[in-house]
Amino acid sequence: MSTSPRKPRVFSGMRPSGTATIGNYLGAIRNWVAQQAEYDNLFCIVDLHALDTLTDPNEMRDNIHGLAATMFAAGLDPEIAPLFAQSDVPQHAELTWTLSAVTQFGELSRMTQFKDKTAGKSDAAINSSMFFYPVLMASDILLYDSDLVPVGDDQRQHVELTRDIANRFNARYGETFVVPKADIKEVGARIMSLQEPTKKMSKTDPNVNSFIALSDESDVIKRKIKRAVTDSDARVAASPDKPAVSNLMQIYGILADMSLSEVEDHFAGKGYGPFKAELTDLLVESLAPIHENLRMFAANPDEVTRRLEDGAAKARVLAEAKMSDVNRKTGVGGKLHR
Ligand code: AMP
Ligand code: TRP
Repeated sequence: MSTSPRKPRVFSGMRPSGTATIGNYLGAIRNWVAQQAEYDNLFCIVDLHALDTLTDPNEMRDNIHGLAATMFAAGLDPEIAPLFAQSDVPQHAELTWTLSAVTQFGELSRMTQFKDKTAGKSDAAINSSMFFYPVLMASDILLYDSDLVPVGDDQRQHVELTRDIANRFNARYGETFVVPKADIKEVGARIMSLQEPTKKMSKTDPNVNSFIALSDESDVIKRKIKRAVTDSDARVAASPDKPAVSNLMQIYGILADMSLSEVEDHFAGKGYGPFKAELTDLLVESLAPIHENLRMFAANPDEVTRRLEDGAAKARVLAEAKMSDVNRKTGVGGKLHR
């Protein structure tokens, strides 16, 4: 009798710091759903990662629930892809401390996300959690022997750091952690702001016209696409000097399953008006099934709680085993376990 080989473990996380955008969807959630049957998955709502920006506990609770409902509505199947809240598994925080002992101050100082988020701020305005953030992320990933981490392009450097941390721990204490790889797709990994196309689309952007939320209704989508900035000439063509239109074309292409040159051919000679109208229709059509599912979960919030609890129970079994192995290897604790 032959046993089937273990499926690679996929792990990824998302902050509950606002409503998920089409950037989160096209860069992350959509890929998680598309490949969930191929892998042994775990997905996490990283609430501890959102503590520095989300300071209202009711908002925190609502966002965790809302994001979970959105992920289920987008097709995450809890039977094969358990979803849980990070803080429901205490080992994430515990392992963070242990890993901080193999993470250099200099490495954390070089993280571009940290540099971007703190640029121009005084020391007193920067929480140390912002600095420490990548160590918590490394612990999320390493706790579950994750092989692949499907993320958008902005997380590439954090996954690289996770690999360095894993290698350093393994070198010091013996093979303990699987060294993970980032899984970043060629298209969709960097959806830009609709207002400033040189900036990443972000759910924490104070300008709501800069992003489309997965929960946006058709009239809101229509308005936001209408207001989306375009480039000076009127051609629907993708090129580095036309970042605004290239971004909209990328969104169109992914949803219509067309390459950028096919999108360009499709709109040849048509101008921005027809392009924006078709893009709006395509977005509305693509989000309709997600909206329908969201309404179902809104009517049944206990189902979302139940699924998150189930997910946490599954994650805890793995996290407890890994953390005891780590503690045994480092020698901490009162037991003379060797
Ligand atoms: P966050 O919302 O920052 O927690 O990001 C959750 C996931 O969505 C990560 O994998 C990000 O890389 C991805 N993501 C966030 N914003 C974008 C974007 N504008 N384009 C593509 N992927 C994104
Ligand atoms: N830092 C990621 C982001 O801002 C979210 C995240 C936290 C994550 N832990 C993770 C992503 C583990 C992948 C794996 O997008």
